[in-house]
Amino acid sequence: MDGKCVVLGVTGGIAAYKSAELVSRLKREGFTVHVIMTRNATKFIAPLTFETLSGNPVTTDTFRRDKPWEMEHVALAKLADILVIAPATASIIGKVACGIADDMLSTTFMATAAPVLMAPAMNNIMYQSAAVQHNIATLKSRGVHFIGPEHGRLACGDEAIGRMTEAADILPAIHAILGISKTLEGKKVLVTAGPTREPIDPVRDITNRSSGKMGYALANEAARRGAEVILITGPVSIPVPNCVQAVEVSTTMEMLDAAVSHFPACDVAIMAAAPADFRPEVVADQKIKKTTDANSLTLRLTQNPDIAAKLGTMKKPGQVLIAFAAETENMTENSHAKLRKKNADFVVANNVTEPGAGFDVDTNRVTIISADESDVLPLMSKAEVAREIMNRVERLLKR
Ligand code: PMT
Repeated sequence: MDGKCVVLGVTGGIAAYKSAELVSRLKREGFTVHVIMTRNATKFIAPLTFETLSGNPVTTDTFRRDKPWEMEHVALAKLADILVIAPATASIIGKVACGIADDMLSTTFMATAAPVLMAPAMNNIMYQSAAVQHNIATLKSRGVHFIGPEHGRLACGDEAIGRMTEAADILPAIHAILGISKTLEGKKVLVTAGPTREPIDPVRDITNRSSGKMGYALANEAARRGAEVILITGPVSIPVPNCVQAVEVSTTMEMLDAAVSHFPACDVAIMAAAPADFRPEVVADQKIKKTTDANSLTLRLTQNPDIAAKLGTMKKPGQVLIAFAAETENMTENSHAKLRKKNADFVVANNVTEPGAGFDVDTNRVTIISADESDVLPLMSKAEVAREIMNRVERLLKR
């Protein structure tokens, strides 16, 4: 959703409080949200609520005296990928159907080329009135989308049609209009990412060059498709994608514990992390000193558990497990061995010595290896690699 902008028009109705939830859900999904309130809406809910939730100033007046040079109705109209009016009163529906533009919301409606979604909320008699029905039909004929109203208890106490659709149900309509497909809705995806760090002493550790970019791109793609995502991440310096629950770990043992505790509730696990395979047998309490009489230091290492292989033993029918293979030689042979050892559905193999592939860079060149197929993909961005992987994961989930 990164970069998509929703301009939300809030008009004066008791359902205005539901729009606060809509803003918070949109923000959690990574949308940019700008709110325009009519004067009447501000009587039902304070602009500060929307300002806090959206992280943007709320517009309530056509002519902002503090920024007279800014044609805000045009600015927001241009910025919008979609204009959502929720709640939409009989008044705003009538105004815009008749081409009246006398406040910020109606002028933005008139000036935008973006699709418009309206969620009416009003008394049932008003809603069923000839005027409102005629205005809705007019707007629909001009391509305006409508959702609701729903049947239920109205502010006047009657049980009838007129309630604004819940925020949770408006969101899928926004996705559909914007062409955002939520193909992993209801699925839970675990992704491991980044390196792990194995301490030698209080100031030194063993680690590797993983930046987390590959795993984070996968977490982002899964979240974009509507999955609930748990990202078990080693120490990296890139931001956690929106709508992703990050579990921060440092050592391979910590990553193992987190993966083992989350995996049973997940539909998919993708092991993109580069966990350290070895850790010092003993961690020194104090900084190990340089000594003048010794030119070398011997560290005894012990092998860490294989997290992917452990999840492979826990895998239940219906769960999908994807491993990576970071190779420097014999990629196909080694990847087939990893496929079997980890009981994975497929392995994403990358040659980490190849320019533009593997650690740290923004691109990767991978081969997707399953028991009966080997799919060599060209050099592409890690975001594109993530899309290719998630397409295959979706196919496996449909088996
Ligand atoms: O993070 P980036 O800078 O974007 O780099 C991306 C990447 C190179 C780290 C990524 O594309 C990648 O290859 N990740 C796997 C790295 C790795 O540890 O490969 P491996 O071949 O050693 O391990 C095979 C599989 O077992 C991997 O899925 C790995 O996550 C997993 N593993 C490894 C060791 C271990 N102790 N436990 C594991 O679960």
